[in-house]
Amino acid sequence: MKIAIGCDHGGLEHKNAIKEHLSSRGFEVCDFGIYEQVSVDYPDIAVKVAGAIKNKECELGILVCGTGIGMSLAANKVKGIRAAAVSEHFSAKYTRLHNNSNILCLGGRVIGVGTALELVDLFVDTEFEGGRHATRVDKITAIEEIN
Ligand code: RB5
Repeated sequence: MKIAIGCDHGGLEHKNAIKEHLSSRGFEVCDFGIYEQVSVDYPDIAVKVAGAIKNKECELGILVCGTGIGMSLAANKVKGIRAAAVSEHFSAKYTRLHNNSNILCLGGRVIGVGTALELVDLFVDTEFEGGRHATRVDKITAIEEIN
């Protein structure tokens, strides 16, 4: 599986640890930056990772900013993106199972690196359940089409 990752200055340490962790697990990682501790605008990174999911270059994405919220707001503006800002284990699993989320957004100032890696594992290892949840996700897509 190919996974797109990116961060702003609030998430560089976490992003680098996630990259190393996913690579060591055998995933192919596409790193959209940042690569050094410089101040950037999180939408500029979010749109790159979201674009890689939208054009099917990558299957899932991980974005890290200070809270995870700015990244999720920006990524969710891209058609076909379901980005979830998550800081605990239950949601990391269920946003794949029930929402078929394709981007996990984490807060580098909210959770430690160890927790971030556990949430990433839950996210990438969980498959969408489909069934009644597919009907609901289809309704999200329909909102996107109409608006
Ligand atoms: C940057 O200082 C901070 O606003 C950003 O990382 C993020 O938390 C936004 O949601």
